[in-house]
Amino acid sequence: MELDDIKKITVIGLGTMGPGLVQAFAQAGYEVTGFDLDPKAADKSIEIIKTNLKTLIEHQLLTSKQAEDTLNAIGLSREIEPALSDADLVMECVSENREIKGKVFEQVAARAGKEALMWSNTSTLDIYGLLPPALEKRSLIAHFFAPPHIIPLVEVVKGPNTPQDLVETSLTLLKKLDKIPIVIQRYLPGFIINRILRNLGREAFFLLDEGYISMEDLDLAVKASIAPRMMVLGLIQRYDFTGLDLSARNLLDKDFFDPPVDNRPKALHERIEKGHLGVKTGQGFFDYQGRDITEINRDRDDYLLKVMKGVGFCLEKKRLV
Ligand SMILES: NC(=O)c1ccc[n+]([C@@H]2O[C@H](COP(=O)([O-])OP(=O)(O)OC[C@H]3O[C@@H](n4cnc5c(N)ncnc54)[C@H](O)[C@@H]3O)[C@@H](O)[C@H]2O)c1
Repeated sequence: MELDDIKKITVIGLGTMGPGLVQAFAQAGYEVTGFDLDPKAADKSIEIIKTNLKTLIEHQLLTSKQAEDTLNAIGLSREIEPALSDADLVMECVSENREIKGKVFEQVAARAGKEALMWSNTSTLDIYGLLPPALEKRSLIAHFFAPPHIIPLVEVVKGPNTPQDLVETSLTLLKKLDKIPIVIQRYLPGFIINRILRNLGREAFFLLDEGYISMEDLDLAVKASIAPRMMVLGLIQRYDFTGLDLSARNLLDKDFFDPPVDNRPKALHERIEKGHLGVKTGQGFFDYQGRDITEINRDRDDYLLKVMKGVGFCLEKKRLV
C-alpha cells in the first residue's frame, strides 16, 4: 500500500496513548475511527482530545477551524468489526500484554482488508512473534512517546520479514504527521529510548534508596544540567565536548560502581504497595490528589509546548559541526 492509498485510520485502544494518536492522525487530515473495549475509555478520549486541541489553540499552534476539522474527522465505534473493515491503517494501542495484543492481531487479520497495514505502539514486546502469517508483511512497530500529539520521536522497529516498502511508506506517513521517525534495524527489548531510560531509572532509584539526595533535588539537578545540554548535543555529541579520554576514564573507574542488579528499588516498590502508582491514582512520587487527570495532563502539555517552541530548532540530526 502506498501513502496515497491511506485515507482511513483506525486506532484500537483508547487508554493513555490512544486519544493523542487519534488526534495526531486527524490533525494530519486523516479520517480516524477509535475503538476501545471499554466504552468509558472511548467517551473519555473525546474529552481528552478536546482539551488537547484547546491547549494547542492557546499556544497558537492550531486555529479554531483546524481544531474543528480535526474533531469532525474523528469517529468512535462501539464494535471492533466496523472499525476494522474499512481501515487502510490500523494503529494497535491496546494494553501491553502478549495475550491481549495477540487476540487483537487475530481480529485485525480476520476483519481488516487484505491490504491494510498495521502499526503497533508496543513499548517493549516482540510483536513479530505474535503476528498471524497474514499480517507478517503488513505490520510494523511504530512506537510513539507520550503525549503522542506533542512528542516528535517515533521508533520504527523492523521485524524479520518487514518489507522495505512498508518501512518507506510508514516513514513518509510519520513525517506527514510532523513526527521524527528513527529506524531500528531489528527488535531488541525496549528499543532505544526505553533502554536508556531504564538505565537512568536504575541509577536514580539507587540514589533515592540510599538517601544521597531528595527526589525534588534530583529532578531539579537533571532539569538544570543534562536536560538542556542533551537538547543541544544529544547523548553522543556531548562526549566530543567533554573529551573522549575523560569519558573513557570515567567508564573504566572501578570506584564509580553501578547500581545493584536486583531491579527492585525501594523507591518504587514501597509506593506501589501503598497503591501510589502515579498521576493515574492521584499519588506517585508527588501528590496530585484533588485534581482531575485531564487538568494535570493539560498543565504538563502547556509546559512541554513552551519548551518545544523554544528548542524545536535543535531537532536536527547533527549540529555544531
Ligand atoms: N503509556 C505510555 O506512556 C506509553 C508510551 C508509549 C507506548 N505505550 C504503549 O502503548 C500501548 C498502550 O499503552 P497505554 O499506556 O495507552 O495503555 P492503557 O492501559 O492506558 O490503555 C489500553 C487500552 O486498551 C484497551 N483494550 C484492552 N484490550 C482491548 C481490546 N481487545 N480491544 C480494544 N481495546 C482494548 C483498554 O480498555 C485500555 O483503554 C502499549 O503497548 C504501551 O506499551 C505506552
